[in-house]
Amino acid sequence: MEQALTDTLRRSLRDLRISVTDRCNFRCTYCMPKAVFGRDFQFLPRSALLTFEEIARLVRILSGMGVRKVRLTGGEPLLRHEVEKLVAMLAGIEGVEDLTLTTNGSLLARKARTLKEAGLHRVTVSLDSLDDAIFRSMNDVDFPVVRVLEGIEAAEAVGLAPVKVNMVVKRGVNDGSILEMARFFRGTGHVLRFIEYMDVGTTNGWRMQDVVPAAEILAILRREADLEPVEPGYRGEVARRYRYRDGSGEIGIIASVTQPFCGDCTRLRLSSEGKLYTCLFSSLGHDLRALLRGGRTDEQVAAFVRGVWEGRRDRYSELRTQETARQPKVEMSHIGG
Ligand code: GTP
Ligand code: 5AD
Ligand code: SF4
Ligand code: SF4
Repeated sequence: MEQALTDTLRRSLRDLRISVTDRCNFRCTYCMPKAVFGRDFQFLPRSALLTFEEIARLVRILSGMGVRKVRLTGGEPLLRHEVEKLVAMLAGIEGVEDLTLTTNGSLLARKARTLKEAGLHRVTVSLDSLDDAIFRSMNDVDFPVVRVLEGIEAAEAVGLAPVKVNMVVKRGVNDGSILEMARFFRGTGHVLRFIEYMDVGTTNGWRMQDVVPAAEILAILRREADLEPVEPGYRGEVARRYRYRDGSGEIGIIASVTQPFCGDCTRLRLSSEGKLYTCLFSSLGHDLRALLRGGRTDEQVAAFVRGVWEGRRDRYSELRTQETARQPKVEMSHIGG
């Protein structure tokens, strides 16, 4: 039997997050501010992107090394041409127990059925407010809330469930929407997760003052709901779970800033041009595309990944300060969160 793969902090490799495009049709101010990602921003050319065959080959290799959960991200993953074909290829790989996708929901109403039929298990949809004016200004492309809600409904209707809804909370921007979001999703079966605003990348101008700590979010929710903690769904789950005591569902809080979860971090990230990142806050990736296109065998690729994982020592969120926030880091839109 193959020896279990662990990094320098004894963490195994369980999850793979695959960015399939660096493009997005939104310009969320905390992720792809227009001042940086403007009209003349140079996104990756198509030839730079890993092909579906290359991605599927990698997933096959990695599933042999312990990966059980695969998440497609972007940018916006549904912008990648015929992404459902990739879903179908990945759904057939032995060992992949959870196959999911994080989307801004803008194209979901149109694509939900095809994705389900291709073998996707579930989706996570980002939605930062139900207040149309706030949402439009946060996505910064004037995209209306109702179309995202239609996407969520479509996902539910075709059985891409339970749908998780991610709300990044930024102080003074959408913290006033916390209760309205909680009320709206309570009793729907969708799991709303509140995310502390993080210092990803170098372009979002993150400041600690802009973070609404998990404890504060929970206190706001408890003003009108009786919530009790729930055990994690699996080891290393990033969201702390709570359920309404009356049985009307559950919520999650992702406290990567005030309660870091690096100790259990089993995630590896693959950018759309084939670089491996061992942390959301890495500055440099490891080039796998060169190996894939350089005629290496599966064993050689696996040996390279094993070396990367065994050398891994990342625990950025445990070390974060206002100073580290200014270090060079890969952009969120490049590795999909
Ligand atoms: P589930 O499988 O549904 O539990 O998904 P998930 O929470 O792992 O993934 P999702 O894409 O919904 O991410 C939710 C939030 O957690 C996003 O803001 C991510 O950037 C953040 N997140 C996910 N993984 C990590 C991580 O390893 N480190 C940090 N700091 N944040 C993470
Ligand atoms: N801080 C926290 N979460 C973020 N996301 C994007 N940028 C940030 C940030 N700076 C979220 C997206 C998506 C998930 C993958 O990451 O809204 O739901
Ligand atoms: Fe917003 Fe997600 Fe697009 Fe970033 S990738 S701009 S968070 S929709
Ligand atoms: Fe993992 Fe890095 Fe996030 Fe810590 S900060 S949980 S090591 S991705």
